[in-house]
Amino acid sequence: MASDAVLQAFDLSKRFKHRWAVSGLNLTVPRGEVFGFLGPNGAGKSTTIRMFLSLISPTSGRVELFGKPLHRHRAEVLARVGGLVERADFYLYLTARRNLEIVAALAGKGSSKKIDAVLDIVGLLDRADDKVRTYSHGMKQRLGIAQALLGDPEFIILDEPTSGLDPIGIKEVRGLVLRLSSEQHITVFLSSHLLSEIEQTATSMAIINAGKLIVQGKVKELLEDQESLVRLDVRPVEVALRILGEHRMASLVTSSGDRVEVKMPASRVPALAKLLTEAGVEIHALTPRRSLEEYFLSLTEQGEGARREQP
Ligand SMILES: Nc1ncnc2c1ncn2[C@@H]1O[C@H](COP(=O)(O)OP(=O)(O)O)[C@@H](O)[C@H]1O
Ligand SMILES: [Mg+2]
Repeated sequence: MASDAVLQAFDLSKRFKHRWAVSGLNLTVPRGEVFGFLGPNGAGKSTTIRMFLSLISPTSGRVELFGKPLHRHRAEVLARVGGLVERADFYLYLTARRNLEIVAALAGKGSSKKIDAVLDIVGLLDRADDKVRTYSHGMKQRLGIAQALLGDPEFIILDEPTSGLDPIGIKEVRGLVLRLSSEQHITVFLSSHLLSEIEQTATSMAIINAGKLIVQGKVKELLEDQESLVRLDVRPVEVALRILGEHRMASLVTSSGDRVEVKMPASRVPALAKLLTEAGVEIHALTPRRSLEEYFLSLTEQGEGARREQP
């Protein structure tokens, strides 16, 4: 498994002055996956990605790309990687094609045939001769991905590619990521602060918070077939509690006032609703949340709170 990893991080850490932006990160990105890197704002995603692309050096720990230490084989391994870290930056008064020609000439890679091919992959071939000034934000992001594809990468790293896009732009970029994986067979590493985003694109994922890895694994295993935390707002609550007890459908977590929280498999929620209704219990709310989702939302809320405290 590890031998077919495109990227591995070992105890990777980065300190800025006194703050550890990333600490002790161990990560394995298997070949062929869309790997989601999920974390609230400020979690350390961009810092990690900058170390992967050798834009900054780690304080300690190391990165291996294709089984080779990055610090010793930098040019060789990075030639096989495409990256889009910042928002793509282009000459707005030049056409998309001209922009790519300039990048290709500077990097000494990419023929005009290659430029057409990458524009085609990202769905911009018919707009290739329009000035970038006329492009939507989503089209600019896709052009950024086209630029990252110029060197024929086996592995592409995208830092929050859908951030700031409107719903149509998000859908276009998401579709493109899936095509890069399924049609171009490129391993994709994708960061996001939205669980839904990762859930819709990634096959493997890692969650990072405050610079530390929380969990990593297959998206299916992490998100499906899990016990859900179900919030019930029911009246009369006594009857609901009696039914929950009698039928042993769920384990009680808390109950206060008309609110009850239980843990149970999400698949049994409809059966519970039926039992309660048949017993004459009024259901005002019934909200299942998977435990990882619940957990991630609580991290995000902490992050929001922390940011609000800043001046
Ligand atoms: N160049 C830098 N100098 C000092 N602190 C930084 C620098 N870059 C990032 N940080 C800090 O490191 C932490 C992680 O930031 P970042 O990697 O950008 O998070 P994310 O991309 O997950 O939002 C934050 O607290 C951020 O303020
Ligand atoms: Mg970031």
